[in-house]
Amino acid sequence: MTGLVLFATGNRHKLAELDAVLRGCGYRAEAAGVPKLELQADSLEEIAVAAAATAYAAAGRPIAVEDAGLFVDALNGFPGPYTSYVYKTLGVRGLLRLLEGAGDRAAEFRSVIAYAGPWGVKVFTGRVRGTIAAEPRGSGGFGYDPVFIPEGETRTFAEMTLEEKNRYSHRAAAARELCRWLREAREAP
Ligand code: IMP
Repeated sequence: MTGLVLFATGNRHKLAELDAVLRGCGYRAEAAGVPKLELQADSLEEIAVAAAATAYAAAGRPIAVEDAGLFVDALNGFPGPYTSYVYKTLGVRGLLRLLEGAGDRAAEFRSVIAYAGPWGVKVFTGRVRGTIAAEPRGSGGFGYDPVFIPEGETRTFAEMTLEEKNRYSHRAAAARELCRWLREAREAP
C-alpha cells in the first residue's frame, strides 16, 4: 500500500526531492493544489506551522508545508527566513555581492516540514552545512543550488543529480524524519 502526503507547494523541484525520499518509506509526495500562505516571520518553523494549519483548515484533509532558508554565517544568519524574498529581489548574484571580500563563506540550509492533520501539527527539521561558492556552477535544482557546496563535496547542489543532492540536503533530512514518523504512525496498534 502506498500512502500519500499532500504538500502545499508550487515548487516542482521541492516536490520531486520530497517524493524521492518518501518513496523510500512507501509514501508519495503530491501537490495539494491549495495555495500556500506566504507569511513573513523570523522563524521557518512559525511560517511552516501557520501555512500548514491554514491549508489543513481550508482543504479539510491533512496537508504538509515545507519551508526552507539559507543561513550565511558571515551575514549573521541572513537571509534565513527571508531567503525567498532575497532570491526574488537580489538573486544568486546579489548574494555573491554581499559576500565579496568575506573570508568566511560558511553557510547552512535549513528545512522545516510542518504536517497538519487530526493529530495537530507535527514538525520535522533538517539542516546541511556547507560553503558558498565564488561563482555559480551547474544547471540542476533551483534557487541557491548553483552556489551551495555541501560539506564533504567539491560540487554545488546544481552540479548533482537529485539523488546526490538528497544524500546531503536539508529537505531530504527533514523528509526522512517525516518518513520515520509516518512509519511509526502506520505501525502503531
Ligand atoms: P521557500 O521554502 O520556498 O520559502 O524557499 C526559500 C528560498 O530558499 C527559495 O526561494 C530558494 O531560493 C531557497 N532554497 C530553499 N531550499 C533550497 C534548496 O534546496 N536549494 C536552493 N535554494 C533553496
